[in-house]
Amino acid sequence: MSRITDLDIDSIKDSDLLKGFDYNNYDEGDRERWKTLLDGVMQAQDGVSCKSYTKGMASLGENFSDIPNLEELNHKLERQTGWKVMAVNGILPCEDFYKLLSRKIFPSATFVRDWHSQAFTGYPDLFHDVVGHLPLFFDKDFSHFVSNSSDIIYQILKQTPNGTAEKEQLIQNFSRYGWFTWEAGLLIENGEAKAYGGAILSSSGETENLKSRGYDKFDLQEVFNQSYTDKEFSCRYFAIDSYDDLFASLDTIKTQYNL
Ligand SMILES: [Fe+2]
Repeated sequence: MSRITDLDIDSIKDSDLLKGFDYNNYDEGDRERWKTLLDGVMQAQDGVSCKSYTKGMASLGENFSDIPNLEELNHKLERQTGWKVMAVNGILPCEDFYKLLSRKIFPSATFVRDWHSQAFTGYPDLFHDVVGHLPLFFDKDFSHFVSNSSDIIYQILKQTPNGTAEKEQLIQNFSRYGWFTWEAGLLIENGEAKAYGGAILSSSGETENLKSRGYDKFDLQEVFNQSYTDKEFSCRYFAIDSYDDLFASLDTIKTQYNL
């Protein structure tokens, strides 16, 4: 997958957001894979997804019965929480990724994964990005956490010189923080752990993996010390009691890194 190195985030206009997305480019094969994926995760999500995801999914269900038109999705999303999707075909540099999110722009891939990657994909595709993540961006608290945390992380990274061991350590810590929260995070609801992480909610395989493992209470320092790879199902899961725990972790991060 190519790296995007020339994105000028400060000058992005609304009309630029979906330049990389052409609804007419998808063929029958893409649509068939999309529907098979959706059937698989809808079954897998039953009893697993958290309330805010289920609520977002209820309002998006009809958009997802086929490959979604991102333009329509953007109108809905912006009305609800002010977020917008940007079609991004490649990997963004770390700082650009957080800066984009801090401006309430969610970068989404546009390709639909192939048949070999139905249960798992190492690279996020359109299905992972929009089915796994977007329903939660209709929740005001969660979407605020993503923009707020991204702004804080972006500022911490920006004030740290490139090429230093300190910067590498920060990038590692914040990758783990992202993985164990909005990719593989769990939320306790009525005494049961439910998923708010998009890697779980967009993958029937990850959901099965979750069912076969236990989980630990979310602890920021433990998350910073826990390695992971996005090439396999998650080795661990961490559960929060409410989104307030995530906001509390941001206060700890600001103190820890003198922001
Ligand atoms: Fe993701």
